[in-house]
Amino acid sequence: MAVLNFGVAGAGRMGSIHIENMMRTPGIKIIAVCTVVPREIEWVKSVFPDAIVTADFDEFLAVEQLDAVLLVTPTAFHKEQVIKSMHAGKHVICEKPIAATPQDAWEVYHESLKFPELKVACAFPRRYATVYMDAAERIRKGEIGEITTIRSQSADLYQCNEFFLNYIKVSGGIFIDCNIHDIDNCLFLIGRDVHATTAYAVGTTHVFPQFAEWGDVDDGMGIVTFEEQLVMNVYGSRNMRHAHHTMTEIIGTKGRILLNGQPRLNQIDISDETGTRMVGATSHMDVFAPAFQREIEGFRDWITIDKKPSFNLKDAAKAVSIAFALTESLREKALATVKEY
Ligand SMILES: NC(=O)c1ccc[n+]([C@@H]2O[C@H](COP(=O)([O-])OP(=O)(O)OC[C@H]3O[C@@H](n4cnc5c(N)ncnc54)[C@H](O)[C@@H]3O)[C@@H](O)[C@H]2O)c1
Repeated sequence: MAVLNFGVAGAGRMGSIHIENMMRTPGIKIIAVCTVVPREIEWVKSVFPDAIVTADFDEFLAVEQLDAVLLVTPTAFHKEQVIKSMHAGKHVICEKPIAATPQDAWEVYHESLKFPELKVACAFPRRYATVYMDAAERIRKGEIGEITTIRSQSADLYQCNEFFLNYIKVSGGIFIDCNIHDIDNCLFLIGRDVHATTAYAVGTTHVFPQFAEWGDVDDGMGIVTFEEQLVMNVYGSRNMRHAHHTMTEIIGTKGRILLNGQPRLNQIDISDETGTRMVGATSHMDVFAPAFQREIEGFRDWITIDKKPSFNLKDAAKAVSIAFALTESLREKALATVKEY
């Protein structure tokens, strides 16, 4: 197998997970890392003594042997770094969201069309989760007919600590931070070039009243309409007391597919005098860790053997537009227009 020389920008919370996955992935060699955090620089140097480690993104991108880069930097940098990477002739996969605003997301998409020789992807792991891939295949085969309604939720296990609260304050709101995964997985399952028109969202702050000051909610519900006869519903929560529960339901003219109907970590059921209970997942990563691994393999195979990817950069731009319209609707208490640029 040919070996791709990879650079990774960002070695923080998500970057370190990607780096560990890449170390396990045949056909990928990390030869350069960019991070501005001194403690991470030390860690990276200890793991990759031969790699180029720098805090300067331009210096990182100038490493000539790089075939591809993975960007796991804060969202505010995505647009500029994806565009720079393409201009440097590198294949690029960037963490979600592809950019910090709808206008920037669409600019990245349009710019990518000027580089047909490069593979440019936005990372959304559910596109590589086996249940979502299986469902997509069944939908493409017409097993449930024409999709009429699609709904998806990301409901996080309750937590309340300083890190979490500080994170929420700058997260951009539940629809952008969390439900963008649901929006994207709905677009993936729909599987054609549909166009969202309006977004309406409501939410509550019973659990974390302070979220209201930050323009956010602890439980949010959004409805999105499309030019095509199609409705999308997303639900996000920071307040599940029993488990993390990501779930998606696709309703078609001839049937229905339900993904992850239960908040299971695994197939173990425990029975005792109180009844029967399952072992619940505690986080998104619990459920999707294998998908993160397959995602990077999918990107490798797209580059090396031109295997059809599940990634879709236009959907990534649409997801930003929809998430922002839902956030606008929530904050303005009015119907919002979804804009493509
Ligand atoms: N797919 C998912 O489920 C998921 C989960 C969490 C985060 N994310 C995304 O991953 C991205 C990173 O989030 P995180 O939580 O890992 O952040 P983090 O703060 O833990 O890490 C950020 C990293 O970026 C580096 N960095 C900062 N500024 C930089 C610059 N100008 N040039 C190069 N590197 C720079 C830092 O050194 C650090 O290594 C975000 O866009 C976030 O939306 C995705």
